[in-house]
Amino acid sequence: MNQFDKKSEAWSALFSEPMSDLVKRYTASVFFDKRLWKADIEGSLAHASMLARQGIIGAQDLNDIERGMAQITQEIEAGQFDWKLDLEDVHLNIEARLTQLVGDAGKRLHTGRSRNDQVATDVRLWLRGEIDLISALLGDVQKALVDLAERNVEVIMPGFTHLQVAQPVSFGHHMLAYVEMFERDQDRIADVRKRVNRLPLGAAALAGTSYPLDRESVARALEMDGVCQNSLDAVSDRDFAIEFTAAASIAMVHISRLSEELVLWTSQNFSFIKIADRFTTGSSIMPQKKNPDVPELARGKTGRVVGHLMGLITLMKGQPLAYNKDNQEDKEPLFDTADTLKDTLRIFAEMIGGITVQAEAMEKAALRGYATATDLADYLVKKGLPFRDAHEIVAHAVKAATSHNCDLSELPLTVLQGFHPKIDKDVYDVLSLRGSLNARDILGGTAPAQVRAQIARHRARLA
Ligand code: ARG
Repeated sequence: MNQFDKKSEAWSALFSEPMSDLVKRYTASVFFDKRLWKADIEGSLAHASMLARQGIIGAQDLNDIERGMAQITQEIEAGQFDWKLDLEDVHLNIEARLTQLVGDAGKRLHTGRSRNDQVATDVRLWLRGEIDLISALLGDVQKALVDLAERNVEVIMPGFTHLQVAQPVSFGHHMLAYVEMFERDQDRIADVRKRVNRLPLGAAALAGTSYPLDRESVARALEMDGVCQNSLDAVSDRDFAIEFTAAASIAMVHISRLSEELVLWTSQNFSFIKIADRFTTGSSIMPQKKNPDVPELARGKTGRVVGHLMGLITLMKGQPLAYNKDNQEDKEPLFDTADTLKDTLRIFAEMIGGITVQAEAMEKAALRGYATATDLADYLVKKGLPFRDAHEIVAHAVKAATSHNCDLSELPLTVLQGFHPKIDKDVYDVLSLRGSLNARDILGGTAPAQVRAQIARHRARLA
């Protein structure tokens, strides 16, 4: 029997009694951290090659380790690996199996290494992979939004402030607002990646190691951007995980805002859009219902991801240097954050592709709220009135339109001229929704020409 099989019976000769089952279960992480297995093996192989290059282990040892790890990889992929709670975590499980398979070479692997720098390396390698997946998915969501925007550049919807009709905007312009948000999310996560992608190995337990390790070469082998420069920091801080979760929370908040709009817009009271049936569910009692479950759940799951950010940042706050077992608690929130974000982005990229826009309903809603009142004020300003006076005059016009139960553009010219003699029949150009839209032909504005220019810019960037 190898020394690890009974690890928790007693760690070493130093321990006089075994762990209780409850403590074993409480302290073990294998049933969630086993998902780090690939990173664990990758890190171990890079470490072992370097040990051999440095003459710290023999060429035959390296050979044995590589052979053993190849078999372990196969066993895990085939679902045949026997994960043991007794062996606490992914690291000890793999190392024990390696030793079982190849003997002494397996026992040499841990030379110059501690689980402290090992786990920090594994989490970073795993997270780097997740970041790359998430970044690509953020790109997919942006592309879906740009497509939707392009199909609807000319569709006019009411733009809102305070959820009150404010000014008409292009539906395409509204979608591009989210593209901006997801572009920033992609930037943010790329920035996090730079700090994730640094190598802790070589820090050992906390102080570095007395073996002549070549840390830089391990970093290169693992395609990392450099090595952590302080051993105490390398094994103890999880700020990179907190940062990732913060970036993920912001992305989820963007998703959640979009979700809220989708929920509103699909309701009968708006009827602005339709979501493809496959993203909605029916009701068990009300046969007429089609509920926007996917956006609602995304809005709900945002709370969960923000919760993970709170969990991780709180996990860190009271820890003295260097490694503490508290850090084992970084994994579940981190895993769940990545899983939730990936699934949400995947489903959104698809769902956005299946949105149909109800252009008439949007235009009608824009006409109901005096969305062109600002345009009338701007018209008067162009005729020489100070803006504040124009604003006041238009308030009277809106009041009159309200009492006639009509839009500003439906007031007869004589009535409009009653508010100010400088009003002429060209006023109807600016009172129309389309006139208002076209007038906002400024960089970042909602005029279709501007929206098309932005679409072209995004397309080039996302290609
Ligand atoms: N499972 C542990 C973790 O996730 C690995 C590191 C354990 N180190 C230690 N000194 N107990 O953090």
